[in-house]
Amino acid sequence: MMDELRNEIEEVKRSFADELGHVQSHQDIALLREKYFSRKKGIVTGFFDRLKTIETGRRPQAGKLVNGLRAFISERLAAAEAPLAARTPPRGRWTDCTLPLSELPLGHLHPLNFVRSQIEELFQQLGYEIADGPEIESEFHNFDALNFLPEHPARDEQDTFFVADFPDLILRTHTSPVQIRYMMAHRPPIRIIAPGKVFRKDNPDATHTPVFHQIEGLLVDRGVTFSHLKGTLEHFVRRYFGPGIRTRFRPSYFPFTEPSAETDISCFICPGDDPDCRICKGKGWLEIGGSGMVHPQVLRNCGIDPARYSGFAFGMGIERMTIIKYGVPDLRMLYDNDLRIIEQLG
Ligand code: DAH
Repeated sequence: MMDELRNEIEEVKRSFADELGHVQSHQDIALLREKYFSRKKGIVTGFFDRLKTIETGRRPQAGKLVNGLRAFISERLAAAEAPLAARTPPRGRWTDCTLPLSELPLGHLHPLNFVRSQIEELFQQLGYEIADGPEIESEFHNFDALNFLPEHPARDEQDTFFVADFPDLILRTHTSPVQIRYMMAHRPPIRIIAPGKVFRKDNPDATHTPVFHQIEGLLVDRGVTFSHLKGTLEHFVRRYFGPGIRTRFRPSYFPFTEPSAETDISCFICPGDDPDCRICKGKGWLEIGGSGMVHPQVLRNCGIDPARYSGFAFGMGIERMTIIKYGVPDLRMLYDNDLRIIEQLG
């Protein structure tokens, strides 16, 4: 009887040791623990239950054997668990410490900054310098010097943010005042682009936000004509949007240019015959900004003699360029900071 029990216990130890040899994870150990110690079906538990059926005189001896089995198994399970807890690789596997790190997610420019720097680069290749101006601007630089009359509707409180307690200061409504600042401080030849934030009292919708970005261009030299303006913008459009994209100049009006033009590019999604085209809506043309020959009075305001010098200027919306280039359906997506969108565009 006692020998039978001893043999059985030895047999259980052997098969347990065998199973323990294959353990690779905490989960494997948990399964073994369950197999041997679970309340209902555990193998060791079963031996303890059997003790009750053994006659009283032999019970202490039998109890010793069963206790020995319990200690054997639980000590080995604990010992097998320790190295796993220390995160050593499972048996039979190893870690190559010389491998390069798995790729870390790197950040990138926001789409608006990316587009801005691409445009900057194209003009820098043409010899343009980057110029800067304040976002809080004087009415003089933002309007008067650019030939806006005192009653011009753009100066209305409905359209422009005025700075409380400083009647002369506004948030600039366009980047054109940088033209004035630069021409007052430099003599021709002048070749600049001026990117930056501008502010208008617009309610946000799919195509408007009260803060947006423009990029201004200005070239002043001797003998500059409208052909130079056309050639420059056509070159830019082909480089930026693609070689097959055409440019169109529509007569327009700005106080600081004469003549003035609206610059359009041909749609690169449809040939202009698809009323459902998500970019041009079937018109075939997309407006990218305003342009024109610098008004002689503006040159004079900055101390440049219009009899000796002429120039051209242009202004483009950076959001608009981004929306057109990447087919963004709603301007506000550029500001929501939703990484699913920002990552796609970067
Ligand atoms: N400043 C104008 C605007 O915000 C855009 C513009 C038009 C800029 C014509 C120019 C230009 O330099 O020549 O609507």
